[in-house]
Amino acid sequence: LFAGMTEFVKGVVAMDGLPPADRMEVCFAGRSNVGKSSLINALTGHKALARASNTPGRTQEINFFTLGEKGYLVDLPGYGFANAPLPVVEKWQRLLKQYLSGRQTLRRAFVLIDARHGAKKVDEEIMSLLDTAAVTFQVVLTKVDKVRASELDKSLDVTRKVLAKHPAAFPALVLTSSEKGDGIATLRSIIAGID
Ligand code: GTP
Ligand code: MG
Repeated sequence: LFAGMTEFVKGVVAMDGLPPADRMEVCFAGRSNVGKSSLINALTGHKALARASNTPGRTQEINFFTLGEKGYLVDLPGYGFANAPLPVVEKWQRLLKQYLSGRQTLRRAFVLIDARHGAKKVDEEIMSLLDTAAVTFQVVLTKVDKVRASELDKSLDVTRKVLAKHPAAFPALVLTSSEKGDGIATLRSIIAGID
């Protein structure tokens, strides 16, 4: 379902540019620089299908990738701090919110959270938006290769407490490292199981 079957479809800058809603899709949301694009590359076994970089605000469009015939993987711009002019950031934040709350075929939003930090206030805001839109979301902790065990326990604790407040939250968290490969097979099978 993943390896060798993923292609870039298009980058979207406005809701009327979205591809036809004719198959399931899952998206990757999270603060700028959390590792959304890197995770798509790890899942699909590509080095640079989705462009990743150390500069927060790298992804500025909604990027669609095919998941074989089954559906789409959707890479989103980040929220929170971004290294780009404010009007530009505001424009893509608006689009992000419209997409998350208004896409019929969106089956699950993966909300990525840095394993070193746990859920922050901006993450909670997105979770509330997803609650309102009744989009099931699941938290993926990223960069576990960079976290010490004690820090990870703290992040898990903070994040689970936040999730308990959100009706649209899927209870199980996934721990990943796009760098080392942890959790990638697990996440692939979760996505494969979504109709
Ligand atoms: P925006 O598009 O700006 O919102 O960022 P993004 O969430 O798409 O993050 P991106 O994938 O571009 O990664 C940001 C930085 O984190 C890059 O320098 C990546 O190499 C690094 N990174 C991503 N995932 C991992 C990981 O699992 N481990 C480590 N060590 N670094 C990672
Ligand atoms: Mg990105």
